[in-house]
Amino acid sequence: MAAAAGNNEGPERQKSIYRTGFQGHKPSIPINPYHLEQAARSRLPREAYDYIAGGAGIEQTIRANRESFNDWHIVPRMLRDVSSRQHSVSLFGRRLAYPFLLAPIGALEAAHTAADKAVAAAASDEQVPFIFSSQASVSMEECAGIMRESPRWFQLYWSKSNDLVKSFLRRAEACGCEAIVVTLDTTLLGWRSRDLQNAWLPFLHGMGLSQYLTDPVFKEMIEYIEPQNKTSLKQVSRQLAKNLMHLYRRHPGKMWDKVRSQDPLSAVQQFISVYSRPSLTWDDIPFVKYHTQLPVLLKGILHPDDARRAIDTGVDGIIVSNHGGRQVDGSIAALTALPDIADTVNGKIPVLFDSGIRTGADVFKALALGATAVCIGRPYAYGLALGGAGGVREVIRNLKADFDLTMALSGHNSINTINRDSLRHT
Ligand code: FNR
Repeated sequence: MAAAAGNNEGPERQKSIYRTGFQGHKPSIPINPYHLEQAARSRLPREAYDYIAGGAGIEQTIRANRESFNDWHIVPRMLRDVSSRQHSVSLFGRRLAYPFLLAPIGALEAAHTAADKAVAAAASDEQVPFIFSSQASVSMEECAGIMRESPRWFQLYWSKSNDLVKSFLRRAEACGCEAIVVTLDTTLLGWRSRDLQNAWLPFLHGMGLSQYLTDPVFKEMIEYIEPQNKTSLKQVSRQLAKNLMHLYRRHPGKMWDKVRSQDPLSAVQQFISVYSRPSLTWDDIPFVKYHTQLPVLLKGILHPDDARRAIDTGVDGIIVSNHGGRQVDGSIAALTALPDIADTVNGKIPVLFDSGIRTGADVFKALALGATAVCIGRPYAYGLALGGAGGVREVIRNLKADFDLTMALSGHNSINTINRDSLRHT
């Protein structure tokens, strides 16, 4: 499919916003990414906001992800005819109008009841690939149905069961995903202070389990809890009763059957015991390559030697990412890691980037430092929280416009001329 048309997004969007303003309407989704986050904060329950915004430890890496963008400065060039701009990039045979994807984000129902369905609709409208998470709140098949011919990828958390891994890969291929992203940095959950303080993890509440609950292999694996281990409804506190009720509601099937069988509890328990495999090594990667025809990318690469190893292992791309600072507090900012990795890869495979992208200038800097494309993370979750599909669409459109104008005003009419010489380091 041809990339979505439009190489004048910046000025067009400005015009439309000012025109609407003249009619008395201000943008309902904040333009400034920090205001966007603040607005989502005031809209969401505390636990949900903290789950999205928070990170590991004292969140030094979240801050470093942002601060690292301040180490680099764009040096605008003048008089270079920027009357039309070309932002498109080709990834695995698919031409994208903009070098953007939507990062995989699990448990999106914490942000909005329409969750991944809303994101799928917005991504499809904007022709930005949506990377379906293993921890999605809506199954990949349902999202794919919404997206029709629009591009989508699938992100894999490698579980303890290779049969389940194979089943996820099979389903991703069958529902039209165009690449597999294997996330390497979350074989265990990071020490996330906010979630620990709130004592709240979405998965225990039955959120973000859709890929599993719709999977034939997972369903076969569920070991049903014996009656003597079941929670007696007489013993439960009010909070527990409330949590159980929500959990049962989220689970497919008739309510009374679920309460009687306690299937939802069994499924959550099964998920917890199977979801990740800390024993993973480089020797496991060929298994994924063997079981899919799709391009495979490794997400979470931060060391040039790991990038080299990824190429030697035969994968098709990498994503430089520290999971938005959610895993190792004190780890290197993803942008700081990017230039050395890009030099090591030297164009052999695409190098994608995430962790800290908030503005058009951020996208510009990541591309200048060697990224082929970037993944948008938290900002679209905030847009979702504030306005469902419309909110996600606004966030994407604003980023497109901001990037278009940043490029033009820096003297670039094509993303191909953005390189390290476009920046100065301080
Ligand atoms: C994530 N991320 C993530 N990554 C992944 O591979 N699978 C997943 O299910 C999730 N889930 C998830 C949930 C939430 C709430 C967040 C904020 C992030 C990480 C995500 O793909 C991406 O790496 C980060 O969001 C990038 O950081 P910023 O730019 O959002 O700060």
